[in-house]
Amino acid sequence: MIKRLVLAALLGCALSSPVVAERGDPEQGRVISFTCAGCHGIPFHQNVYPTYSVPRIGGQNEGYIVSALRAYRSGERRHPTMQAQGNTLSDQDILDIAAYLADLGGDSQ
Ligand code: HEC
Repeated sequence: MIKRLVLAALLGCALSSPVVAERGDPEQGRVISFTCAGCHGIPFHQNVYPTYSVPRIGGQNEGYIVSALRAYRSGERRHPTMQAQGNTLSDQDILDIAAYLADLGGDSQ
């Protein structure tokens, strides 16, 4: 009986807490996102060229980066350059990159 109550409490807790998203490996993400730096300017947090049209991605919200990359890959979000980038990434790559970028934080600059 007590066991049941404890189990119910644990379950209730697990269900009501926000879903913890699976997280990638930031170290791996750092390696993969090397190519992104040419346009996005990671790790300097600056856009290189053209400065006006490349958004800053270092320090952005992890979940946002994951959904943006998936959207480019699926074609839901249209942008030829980023769709080409997205097409080269696996689900794991996307998680890794997002973990790395989110960890950069928005503190420099
Ligand atoms: C050839 C230049 C180029 C490269 C290389 C590139 N990007 Fe981008 N990226 C862009 C541009 C331009 C945009 C803005 C596209 C748009 O308006 O939707 C963008 C948008 C994004 C966005 C959405 C940002 C936002 O604020 O909505 C993310 C996330 C992103 N890129 C991640 C990456 C990652 C990760 C890589 C490496 C795998 C990468 N990009 C490589 C040019 C590039």
